[in-house]
Amino acid sequence: MSDTLHKLARADAIPEGRLRCAEINGHRLLLAKVDGQLYCTDDLCTHEDASLCSGSIHGYVLKCPLHNGCFDVRDGRALEEPAEDDLRSYPVSVRDGDVFVEFGDDD
Ligand code: FES
Repeated sequence: MSDTLHKLARADAIPEGRLRCAEINGHRLLLAKVDGQLYCTDDLCTHEDASLCSGSIHGYVLKCPLHNGCFDVRDGRALEEPAEDDLRSYPVSVRDGDVFVEFGDDD
C-alpha cells in the first residue's frame, strides 16, 4: 500500500533541538528539528517500552531515557547499545508552514 501524507504540526511549533510527540492512527511518532531540518522516527524505543520523546537529543543523536541507547534521528540507525535494532524513520516535508509525514496506512 502506498504511503499517505499526514499533516502533523506547524513547522514553527517545533523548536530547534527539542522533541515533539505525534500520532497517526494510534502509531506514536517523534518529530525533531536539527539545524533547521525536520526528522520523524518511531517514538517507541526498539530495546524496550520507552517513549523516546521523553529522552533527549544532542546534535543528531537521540538518547533513550530508560537505558541511554542512542539512535541517529536522521535515519533511525541504532548507534549505541543496548539499542541494537534501528528505528523506522519517515520522510518529512513542509508546505506552507505545515509539517507532513509520509506514513503508510498499513504501518
Ligand atoms: Fe531504550 Fe532500553 S528502552 S535503550
